[in-house]
Amino acid sequence: MKLLVLHGPNLNMLGVREPEVYGRDTLEDINRSLESAAADQGVELRIRQSNHEGVLVDEIQEALGRAEGILINPGAYTHTSIALRDAIVAVGLPVVEVHLSDIHAREHFRRHSYIEPVALTQICGHGSRSYLLGLEALVDHIRTGSEG
Ligand code: DQA
Repeated sequence: MKLLVLHGPNLNMLGVREPEVYGRDTLEDINRSLESAAADQGVELRIRQSNHEGVLVDEIQEALGRAEGILINPGAYTHTSIALRDAIVAVGLPVVEVHLSDIHAREHFRRHSYIEPVALTQICGHGSRSYLLGLEALVDHIRTGSEG
């Protein structure tokens, strides 16, 4: 199984960026633990981070025919990007949305996600573990779907 993992804007700053909100793990730490969990499951990951909305849209489009699902932390684009949402709908791949922080317990503007309605599920508030939980949910969904 091949999956795309996408990290949105400012997530390259993890470790130094608001550690009281996002924790001390760097993006590299998160990617390493994802790689290790994926390898245990026989899953291959393509992992990309971009600060640019269009690059993320390109990645989602290019996943069609190459990946069976997408794990995404869209960062602030969660709350603004109809383009990311449209790209997800266009490719029709299963998507799990993850966030380190609990976006429902922060500023009001973070409570709305353009991605959530088109994602299988949204996992937030578990720090870097949100990614691992998200990976598990996505892999389970794909395996169950292809068995059923
Ligand atoms: C985030 C939450 C977003 O509101 C914020 O803009 C981010 C990170 C998270 O992982 O908690 O950049 O997606």
